[in-house]
Amino acid sequence: TTFYGVFGSPISHSRSPLMLNRAFQENGINAAYAAFHIEQGTLKAAIDGIRALRFRGVNVTIPYKVEVMSYLDEIDEGARVIGAVNTIVNENGKLIGYNTDGIGYVRSLCEETGISLQGKRVLLLGAGGAGRGIAYALAKAGAEIVWVSNRTESKANELVSYISLLTEAKYIAAEAIAGIIDKVDLVVNNTSLGMYPNINEIPLDPSLLHDKLVVSDIIYTPMETLFLKEARARGAKTHGGLGMFIYQGAYAFEYWTGQNAPIQAMREIVLQSLT
Ligand code: ATR
Repeated sequence: TTFYGVFGSPISHSRSPLMLNRAFQENGINAAYAAFHIEQGTLKAAIDGIRALRFRGVNVTIPYKVEVMSYLDEIDEGARVIGAVNTIVNENGKLIGYNTDGIGYVRSLCEETGISLQGKRVLLLGAGGAGRGIAYALAKAGAEIVWVSNRTESKANELVSYISLLTEAKYIAAEAIAGIIDKVDLVVNNTSLGMYPNINEIPLDPSLLHDKLVVSDIIYTPMETLFLKEARARGAKTHGGLGMFIYQGAYAFEYWTGQNAPIQAMREIVLQSLT
């Protein structure tokens, strides 16, 4: 048996064990994946435990995606630029860190909506930790311009300066969005507005939304946020956040096993657990 896990705190609600064990089973791989609650101050010991116990791979989640970078042997370029690791691969005792959140998001968006990102103009709402990985992956996939709107302007500007290396990026004040929305192809919410239990919050005035847009939300509790409902009602094509979770796990599975992830089986079992 090959061992895997997810390290975080809190961790009891994680759907990763359910999803990855289902994937191993579907592909006939003899493996076990468990959730580990890591107390503050014990992450380094836990990471050393990966080597001692010869785990093949580990996912890392809140609040350890940044701290974990100090304890690894090698960090993939994308993860280094984003500044966070969510997937560790153990290559015979050498621990390598990757970030599959942003690329997982983009693969979900493209496969589920059919959008091609080359030359697309994006409005990014929010500039938090998730936003960094998403902005990086969108820019890498060929997005032409990224406007970043955020409650805290300084954080938006940090994000803008870091993706400026890859694509054109600009801060935009909330009041100015009405002036550019007709030029936007894709709106992505990566703020926490609208997440359960605050399901009546919305990250953008919905009267701005129109039927030429793809509107995407990284939140998946609820599965369809108020923002997406409003977008759908105005004729936009919509994309929910569940796919990002599924595909970040799919990439991890693929890095660990070298096999294609059984996306459909993974999606089904996660959906079942949420409804
Ligand atoms: P994550 O790692 O999930 O992205 P985060 O780093 O805390 O979480 O980022 C949360 C995002 O939601 C930020 O863009 C945050 O805006 P600030 O940078 O101004 O904090 C945004 N956000 C959270 N609550 C908000 C609110 N009530 N109004 C507007 N934006 C909010």
